[in-house]
Amino acid sequence: LVRPPGKRPLQNKKVLISAGPTREALDPVRYLSNRSSGKMGYAIAKAAQKAGASVTLVSGPVNLPAPNDIERIDVESALQMYDAIVPRASAYDIYIGAAAVADYRPAEIQPHKIKKQQTDSVIHLQRNPDIVADVAALARKPFVVGFAAETDDLDTYALNKMRDKKLDMIAANWVGKLTGGFDSDLNALKVFWPDGGKTLAMTDKQQLAEQLIALIAERIDEKNT
Ligand code: CTP
Ligand code: CA
Repeated sequence: LVRPPGKRPLQNKKVLISAGPTREALDPVRYLSNRSSGKMGYAIAKAAQKAGASVTLVSGPVNLPAPNDIERIDVESALQMYDAIVPRASAYDIYIGAAAVADYRPAEIQPHKIKKQQTDSVIHLQRNPDIVADVAALARKPFVVGFAAETDDLDTYALNKMRDKKLDMIAANWVGKLTGGFDSDLNALKVFWPDGGKTLAMTDKQQLAEQLIALIAERIDEKNT
């Protein structure tokens, strides 16, 4: 495979990336959320830009500065993230779903603060739509990369998610004690695609993001030759 000299791996590519958690409001002062610092998604956005791509980052609430020269769309809930991503995804070459999207939202958002006396202590939940699966189901679909954060049976769950959601690639990582992930600056990934895979050893998230972007560029080049 020969790339013309001087051409960067994602030159002329448009990349859409989701990052961070979502927040699902219960009332004006409370929400349900996921543990996610957004660091991995932001590192991927920077790596894609460094590889020559034009990058749009759809971000849940995180404590990270907007990277230079990257268009950032701020959202809060999973439904807002869905609306920011699915209708525009066909205009992109690559979608990377690094966000920790809440799987459920409270069935009702109470307009007034819930008082402790008035609650029956049960929260009714409703399923959120699956953003990465719906992007992969588009008629004109980008190259779709999902994540799988698991505490058990990493390979099995990751491979099943790739198959069920019809992803072109999935990046799986262990979450929990002493494994990097979450708020850490370190992480390790097991990356799978339908006919192969590669383990990216524990390193800082920026290095890892660059290795992941290199793998994505290789897979796209291979598909186009
Ligand atoms: N994802 C998404 N929309 C959702 C839920 C998840 O786009 N409503 C995406 C995530 O961004 C990630 C991938 O799906 O790229 C896997 O997320 P994960 O939570 O690991 O898998 P789920 O399919 O939600 O399954 P479960 O939580 O039961 O493990
Ligand atoms: Ca989930």
